[in-house]
Amino acid sequence: MRTFILFFVFAIFFSFSNSFAEQSQYVDEQGWNTVSSAGFVFKWKINKDEIDCRVEAATKGWIAVGFNNVNRMNNANIIIGCVDKKGVKVEDHFGKGHGHHKDKIQNVKNIFGKESIGKTEIYFTIPLDSKDPEDFVLEEKRPVFVIMAVGSKDSFSTIHSKKTSVKIIL
Ligand code: HEM
Repeated sequence: MRTFILFFVFAIFFSFSNSFAEQSQYVDEQGWNTVSSAGFVFKWKINKDEIDCRVEAATKGWIAVGFNNVNRMNNANIIIGCVDKKGVKVEDHFGKGHGHHKDKIQNVKNIFGKESIGKTEIYFTIPLDSKDPEDFVLEEKRPVFVIMAVGSKDSFSTIHSKKTSVKIIL
């Protein structure tokens, strides 16, 4: 009986410690909210009706972040970018099944990015509610799924080498 209770206590402890290790969230001194998962770091700061975002991960290819009400690519508002010889490229895309296409209206600005020692980072600003059906409505203090992925090439039409998703409260 004692062995059974000990096993039960350890099982509960390990299941909790694993779920904490998967996702960590905090606010830094500059007011950036930060969430980390599977080697991806996503930072955000809401400014009135816009949201400033940064995403970084180990890759020499593309990096992307998507917003959705489920942890799926389908219907996600995806912002995808890369840094190549020509500079930084960041585009507003829409998830369709297990693919995505460039939105007709590009609701993304304040684009910045850098790539160094195998790590790529992109910065951008998007509206919380662009009114574009190819975007996702974000609301402060509401939950949202953030999906993130990297590809090993700069071409946005290549599949990911790594992906993750987190649920956050904006
Ligand atoms: C042309 C580009 C892409 C292709 C061909 C593609 C393809 C796929 C496929 C076949 C799956 C299901 C198999 C698996 O789990 O690996 C999948 C899942 C997933 N992908 Fe992608 N993907 C692409 C881009 C992206 C981007 C840009 C993101 C993030 C912003 C992303 C995030 C995810 C996530 C979170 C899943 C698991 C949930 C789901 O099935 O939707 N993918 N992708």
